[in-house]
Amino acid sequence: MKPPRLLPLVALACSLLAGIASAAEPQASDEQRSATKTANADPTLAPDLLLPAKDMAWWRDAKFGVFVHWGLYAIPAKGEWHMFNDKVPAAEYAKLAQQFNPQHYDPDAWAQLAADGGARYMVLTTRHHDGFSLFASKASWGQFDAPHSAAKRDLVAPWVEAVRRHGLRVGLYYSPLDWRFPAYFHPREMPENAREFKQQTYGQIQELMSQYGRIDVLWYDGGWLAHQGSDADAAWFWEPDRLNRIVRKLQPQVVINPRSGWQGDFDTEEGDAPIRGPIRARPWEKTFSINGAWGYVPENNVKSTDEVVKALVNAVVRNGNLLVNLGPDADGVVPPRQSETLRGVGRWLQRYGQAVYDTRPGPLQPVDGVYGMTQHGDKRFLFVLSWPEAGLALPALPGRVTGVRNLSGADVAWRDGPQGLTLSVPAEQRGEPVTVLEISTAAPQ
Ligand code: GLC
Repeated sequence: MKPPRLLPLVALACSLLAGIASAAEPQASDEQRSATKTANADPTLAPDLLLPAKDMAWWRDAKFGVFVHWGLYAIPAKGEWHMFNDKVPAAEYAKLAQQFNPQHYDPDAWAQLAADGGARYMVLTTRHHDGFSLFASKASWGQFDAPHSAAKRDLVAPWVEAVRRHGLRVGLYYSPLDWRFPAYFHPREMPENAREFKQQTYGQIQELMSQYGRIDVLWYDGGWLAHQGSDADAAWFWEPDRLNRIVRKLQPQVVINPRSGWQGDFDTEEGDAPIRGPIRARPWEKTFSINGAWGYVPENNVKSTDEVVKALVNAVVRNGNLLVNLGPDADGVVPPRQSETLRGVGRWLQRYGQAVYDTRPGPLQPVDGVYGMTQHGDKRFLFVLSWPEAGLALPALPGRVTGVRNLSGADVAWRDGPQGLTLSVPAEQRGEPVTVLEISTAAPQ
């Protein structure tokens, strides 16, 4: 179901090596120039497009978002890569639009569910790689959009309003690539088709950035070509600096992800692999699907509330956010087990949200699988993911510890000394799936 994510890395490594090998040659190829623009590495990559810290603060405070993958692919129910994976010809696939008539599409219910789940923002796939736009799009090639489907209306507009009504921030996912264009696979060989293809992306991005009022997040995905190389490798084609300069004119404060090939305001990490390592310097976002696929498939491998909570904690203690995906069915209904998992996260956040929202990571570095910390003003929070038999020993914190409160249960025994802080909590009072402690300290002398 997923694209070969390894391939881009291998291709990137090869093109970087090629770049080094040909350093003495006067002319670098477009690909080599693009490859040197690797995301996050090159400070010359339009740094003026980066949002200042003050405009990123809400995103860093929000911590938790809900992603929604929804489109025509919900009908065959084989995930959002169905058209490509099953080699469905574009004309055949297009017929799905005449069946797309969601009777139970209720964006208020989606926004309510996200709010109940404790999310502070939502991101909707306004158009995935199949090219079908959920929004009214004059720029859409062949008018492949919701108003020209059986739904006969713009499905993004009421969603944006509902999300705002529920006090959440609005994020739009948009895929520059579109499998309907042969030029996606042969950009150089088919210049005219490539021109139309690129024109559609530029036109649709402008529509999305001007038709729905203020937009908080622009979430690109698939700024590659022919499913090869990295997003940055394809920057020679997409010119993401130019594209995002247009975006900034229309939406000066929108938070932009890195998948257009431009470095973006935050980094992304995708998939189910565990979150590990030290606190990351740049703001970043982990994303995965609660169900086993992004787009609708009958529920399989649905993640539990505990799994999502642990991922959230592991992201937040490392300077990250978590964006969890729901895959509603073709009728617009979010399947029940995904909703249940999300509501469980909301209940957990109601109790422990003070240690999550509006915090920053630290002061101690996290230890994989054991603990991590956040802080907010003079409050410090410790999340314990697993308790060593003999209690937990932490390195010394800045300032003398004056108290430890257990937000998960009644008791906590603690002792502060020159070597650091030792803590223990009786097994039955640890709280599931993590123990959350608030540590008070006196200001360092
Ligand atoms: C992967 C999937 C894509 C999905 C995206 C979300 O790239 O292939 O379909 O939209 O993840 O991050």
